[in-house]
Order: sequence, then C-alpha cells, then structure tokens
Amino acid sequence: MTNTRYPQARIWNRFAAGYAKRAVDDPKAYQVKLDKTAALMTPDMKVLEFGCGTGTTALYHAKRVDRIDALDFSSEMIRIAKGKAETANAPNVAFHICTLGDWGTEHGPYDMIMAHSVLHLVEDLDATLHQVRKRLKPGGWFVSSTVCIRDASRILPILLPLASATRLIPKVLPLGAEGLQQRISAAGFDITEHWRPAQGKAVFIIAQAV
Ligand SMILES: C[S@@+](CC[C@H](N)C(=O)[O-])C[C@H]1O[C@@H](n2cnc3c(N)ncnc32)[C@H](O)[C@@H]1O
Repeated sequence: MTNTRYPQARIWNRFAAGYAKRAVDDPKAYQVKLDKTAALMTPDMKVLEFGCGTGTTALYHAKRVDRIDALDFSSEMIRIAKGKAETANAPNVAFHICTLGDWGTEHGPYDMIMAHSVLHLVEDLDATLHQVRKRLKPGGWFVSSTVCIRDASRILPILLPLASATRLIPKVLPLGAEGLQQRISAAGFDITEHWRPAQGKAVFIIAQAV
C-alpha cells in the first residue's frame, strides 16, 4: 500500500515491520501506563488515539470502552494494526490512515484521547494540543507519553536535528518535561498526574480538559 496522502510518513512506513516485531522497551513501565489509563476507562467511553503505530495500546484497551478510533499517518503501521485487530477480534477499534488535524470533528467529542510516543514528533506541538482539547468533552482525559530529549542529554537536542536532516531518522522536538506540562496546561488542561519511570525516560502525563 503506498501513502500518497502523507509523504512525510515514508520513514515510518519503512520502520513499520521492524516496529511491530520489536519488544516494548520497558515492559514494567508500559504496564503501569496501561493500568493508570485503564483505571480512568468506563464501558461507555469513546476514545481516540493518534500516532497509534501498529495498534498495540488501542487493542489492549478495546474491551474496556465502547469504541476506539485509532489514527496514524503511516499506511504501513495501519495495515499491520488492522491485521492485529482481526486476530484480536476487536470490532470496536477502527484504524485509519490520518493525522489528528485531518480527523473530522464530527467523529467526536471524545471522552479520552491518547498520544503515546508521538507528541515529540509532531510538526506543531501547540496546534496539536489545541486539536486535542477541541476534540475532548469538558472533563475528558488526555493521556500521553512523550520523549523529552532536553532532559535526557545536553548533546541530543543538538545532534538529533542534524541526524534528522539526513532523513534517516524522524525530526524530534527538543522538549523538556516541565515545558511540555506548561504547554499542555496552556492548551486548556489540568494535569492530574505526571510520572517518569526513571531519569531520561518518556514522561507519562494524565491531563483533564477544563
Ligand atoms: C514512535 S511511534 C509510536 C507508536 C505507538 N503510539 C506506540 O506507542 O508504540 C510514532 C508513531 O506516530 C506516527 N506519527 C508520527 N508523526 C505523526 C503525525 N504528525 N501524525 C500522525 N501520526 C504520526 C508514526 O507513523 C508512528 O506510527
């Protein structure tokens, strides 16, 4: 399947098969994040996930909620996710090749939006956070896990933009956890939880739409 709609997803199409086979980096931390998310879920909820990759998280939560719309701009990621959904027998999870910005507001509003390992990859973080807020009901949950390279190392924020110029790796925003939280709050959220399993690891944030 080619992806003419999102040429910028080419690099992720190349990664998709390897990504699907790769073991989760830190299974204990991943399980804590799943559990904290599941604790907020109720059977009537409509959930949106963007940057869903091959669908592991959406499929894990499928049985806890009414419906999950899971988006990714990579056609290969979505092709693999759809295959996994068939095996998992999860008819209430719908996978779409789409960015958050292109996803019609008529599908919402949602009770929860999830963004795992994607906020540091978007073109415009504040516009993305605004899109998230717009698609959530008041009181709805925004659950995210984000790589903050500014906190991990002094050299990475300098090296990564150079490396991404080669187009061998994606562009990564030079985020720090504190600044990220401020920007989530400024987009219209109360942060109810932030958790980092260890120094340099992705920051997990639960925020509620005000
Ligand atoms: C690091 S992977 C994370 C996948 C999955 N959420 C996970 O936690 O395993 C990032 C995913 O976000 C997608 N992605 C990156 N930038 C995106 C954007 N601007 N809009 C939609 N999807 C995007 C990529 O195609 C990729 O599948």
